[in-house]
Amino acid sequence: MWGMIATWRMAVEGITKGAQMLKNGGDAGDAIESAIREVEDFPYYKSVGYGGLPNEEMEVEMDAAFMDGNTLDIGAVAAIRDFANPVSIARRLSHEKVNSLLVAEGAEKFAHKEGFERKNMLTDRAKAHYRKRIKEMSAQAASQKLKPYSGHDTVGMACLDMTGKMTAATSTSGLFMKKKGRVGDSPISGSGFYADSKKGAASATGLGEDLMKGCISYEIVRLMGEGMHPQKACETAVARLDAELKERRGEAGDLSLIAMNPKGEWGVATNIEGFSFAVVTEALEPTVYLVTRQEDGLCTYEKASDEWMENYMKTRMAPI
Ligand code: GLY
Repeated sequence: MWGMIATWRMAVEGITKGAQMLKNGGDAGDAIESAIREVEDFPYYKSVGYGGLPNEEMEVEMDAAFMDGNTLDIGAVAAIRDFANPVSIARRLSHEKVNSLLVAEGAEKFAHKEGFERKNMLTDRAKAHYRKRIKEMSAQAASQKLKPYSGHDTVGMACLDMTGKMTAATSTSGLFMKKKGRVGDSPISGSGFYADSKKGAASATGLGEDLMKGCISYEIVRLMGEGMHPQKACETAVARLDAELKERRGEAGDLSLIAMNPKGEWGVATNIEGFSFAVVTEALEPTVYLVTRQEDGLCTYEKASDEWMENYMKTRMAPI
């Protein structure tokens, strides 16, 4: 058995490529890196890689991570600028015994030394979004809160190859208009991602500050390790964290999770409307699903229609 599951519709081209590798006996590390790079390289996705929306100083600062579920190796970068593929730098760092999570200038220096591709990640389109938001913000109350860019956030993936190896990886430009130096859940082990080939792998998208309060990716992997099906594990962890945050703080940010176990069974859960995900397994061609959350915290999903898929791309590429 092999498979991949990923947050958001934007991941479907990437997992399609990854599936080709897995089908031919490819490695879960290579497949997930290649799948995430595909998303990082596409200029119209506003929250990952090239074309990602900038921080309040109009700089694209990116976070990414990679985890090998066999060795438990973890590598991550945070607030890195001007490199094309943060996930590849994270994977390279996962081979280091120490210094495996690097931030800002330190991460950039490492990436430069290792010969990773430099790239100005701020596109004209992202600049236009920035200027538009500045205008909107000056027209609104100063108390307006930052939100993850609507319906479209971190790419996070879980992957299983034919040998039973599992990996998890993430990549994001984080919250639009975030403070310089702000780091979300995506490069933080256990929060944005976790992989253990004996139990499963999970990854998150949503409001990093709240996802981190529950170490939610680790929690899902832990529940799968106790024998819970990935769907139940995702629903249980999301419902619990959502309820705890609401009880203690009066509100919960966006929490959406995907997971897969070593049998290739998978699951998703969310506390928002409009979460989409992409999945492929030996038995299922690459498919995009839309999730609906029921009152009781259970989540159902249905295949995205052709119309939805067409509309999605039109919206991404529409003039600003
Ligand atoms: N989940 C991405 C972030 O909060 O940065």
